[in-house]
Amino acid sequence: MPEARQALQQGAAPAPDRYAVVGNPVAHSLSPEIHARFAEQTSQHLVYERLLIPAGQFKATVEGFFASGGKGLNVTVPCKGDAFTWVGEEGLDPLAKRARAVNTIAKTAMGFTGHNTDGIGLVRDLQWHCVNISNARVLVLGAGGAVRGIIPALMDAGIKSLFIANRTASTARQLAEDITQEADLNCEGGSLPEVDGQFDLVINGTSAGLSEQALEMPASLIRDAWCYDLMYGPKAAFHHWAKTQTQRGSCDGLGMLIEQAAEAFFVWRGVRPDTAPVRAQLTQEAR
Ligand code: ATR
Repeated sequence: MPEARQALQQGAAPAPDRYAVVGNPVAHSLSPEIHARFAEQTSQHLVYERLLIPAGQFKATVEGFFASGGKGLNVTVPCKGDAFTWVGEEGLDPLAKRARAVNTIAKTAMGFTGHNTDGIGLVRDLQWHCVNISNARVLVLGAGGAVRGIIPALMDAGIKSLFIANRTASTARQLAEDITQEADLNCEGGSLPEVDGQFDLVINGTSAGLSEQALEMPASLIRDAWCYDLMYGPKAAFHHWAKTQTQRGSCDGLGMLIEQAAEAFFVWRGVRPDTAPVRAQLTQEAR
């Protein structure tokens, strides 16, 4: 008999469904707060925790969580590639497959499913800020899991061209090659000093901000571009610098975090929360 029905028959309230964000670090994550607000707003009975993954312990930690009754996970740095491999081909949704990175895992009656809601979150947040990316020339900094997660959604939104610039140029070149094999997009990869041209949108997808390292790049590259940092809060060093240099606008990834969380919530619960009040509350608190 399912636990919840058994509990009801015994007159006890059913235990809330368990969810968590996994990664390393996770102490800074706002996801528990966001999901608690979504749950309250939509009257869903759940709890949401933070779970630190020690190095090399992804499989053991995740399997332990699900074995103890967990229903779903959000996956953050640096585990999105591990999550992709762990879920396996059969359980992946099309965006996760294309990204080769998973940020949301759901336990279903049929097994585990893997999703990538990062790109949807970014595109919705850009729409929120009224940034039109149809036909945009885009420069992305970084070539890791976070960047792989957003590129399919950027392509679906109709960007015109993409330059991927990474500290390790070979990773960026490989990623650009993979993309051009998949789609008819003008896409190049290389190191930051190799970047050439004008951009409408510059996105920081590196994890440099996590270790409080600055990116060395000329301000001329962003002067006429909208700037977006996938990091949020004090870690969004690129955004804090970019807003003093660009003539367009710059934002951190708080809105994307909320939007990708809303999509993950929908995957798990089949209910779409209203992100507007959560945006308003968290933006207010961040001030
Ligand atoms: P994530 O899931 O956040 O993308 P990741 O897959 O480990 O994490 O990728 C981190 C990205 O940030 C990489 O592109 C990394 O560059 P390398 O491929 O050269 O490692 C980039 N990165 C991390 N620290 C950086 C720094 N201090 N300067 C520039 N790029 C950095």
